[in-house]
Amino acid sequence: MQIHRVAVVTSGGDCPGLNSALEAMARWSHHHGGWELVGLMSGVKGLMEDPVPLKVGLPYAQWAATPGTMLRGNSKGLHLNEVAKQYAQAFERHRIDALISIGGDGSLVLLDDLTRMVGIPFVAIPKTIDNDVPLTDWALGHASAVEEVRRSVDNIHATAYGHGRLFVVEVMGRDAGHLALRGGMAGCAHAILTPERVHSIAALANAVEVAFEQHGYAVVVVAEGTPMPDGGEVRRTRYRENEVRYGGIAAAVGSALGMHRETRFVTLGHTVRGVPPVAFDRMLAQMFAVAACECVKQQKFGHMVAWQADKIVCLPVAEVRRSAPPPLSSALLYTAEQLGIYIGQAQA
Ligand code: F6P
Repeated sequence: MQIHRVAVVTSGGDCPGLNSALEAMARWSHHHGGWELVGLMSGVKGLMEDPVPLKVGLPYAQWAATPGTMLRGNSKGLHLNEVAKQYAQAFERHRIDALISIGGDGSLVLLDDLTRMVGIPFVAIPKTIDNDVPLTDWALGHASAVEEVRRSVDNIHATAYGHGRLFVVEVMGRDAGHLALRGGMAGCAHAILTPERVHSIAALANAVEVAFEQHGYAVVVVAEGTPMPDGGEVRRTRYRENEVRYGGIAAAVGSALGMHRETRFVTLGHTVRGVPPVAFDRMLAQMFAVAACECVKQQKFGHMVAWQADKIVCLPVAEVRRSAPPPLSSALLYTAEQLGIYIGQAQA
């Protein structure tokens, strides 16, 4: 099959590096593809609307450095059974021969299910600040978000020190603690709580007191999906069907510590998503984009490109779906323990 038109979509939440990937794809398509590259607006839903041309009009550097996604995102709330046929028709109507999807695990599952129903030839690029897509060491956007958490925690140290306070800082990540662990380590937090580990309030309180004795203040970083130390529910708001909003763990942990120290809570939330991509994410975006375009050229569909042990690989989506999200870095956990940073215990 000759490929004439390739569509690209950024689905799910935005993250740093999406525009870098779009730019690299436009550049590769111009040099090697021999196809027209178009963008779908607003996630997979965009298939139902007219695609937009994706040409390199801006200087490459300007385009690649821009935060967010010029295609907009979000494919949540789709009911596949109702729309699958319309998607297949839209694919034909827009004369799209292949789709490159830049998305997280949710988007991957959605596209794979859609493909099983109506056969959409797609290649996926993993992106998420959470780094919870299976079989890739790094997903696009994670490194930049880590850097932003580090930057924010750096800022908090100054105020925490100045006022002799305990700060509990909540960071995104859904059920994964990579962002909290990496950002907290780089930001010299005194304790880091993640969903993957088990924590106790007594041990955390001890870590906080040790920090106060040594430095006169303490900074605790907690991943939003962390269960309460010693058990109990984290406050999560159900938004739409099957969609969970996280939030509140920092205040819950701070209160559980008893407020003996003057305590403040900070939720970094979406502020870490809209940052310009750091160098690593820009390079990852370029490597993922080239690999995805090559997959399309070879008509190797139903695959996801990934970063494993310093190499770009291309994996069947079925294998990705069967696999667990990446574990927390054991080297980093070991280092945290050696440095006396409280990180709880491994799960039994
Ligand atoms: O998956 C990325 C992420 O930023 C999570 O860390 C966070 O819980 C969620 O998205 C927030 O989603 P939304 O933008 O829909 O509020």
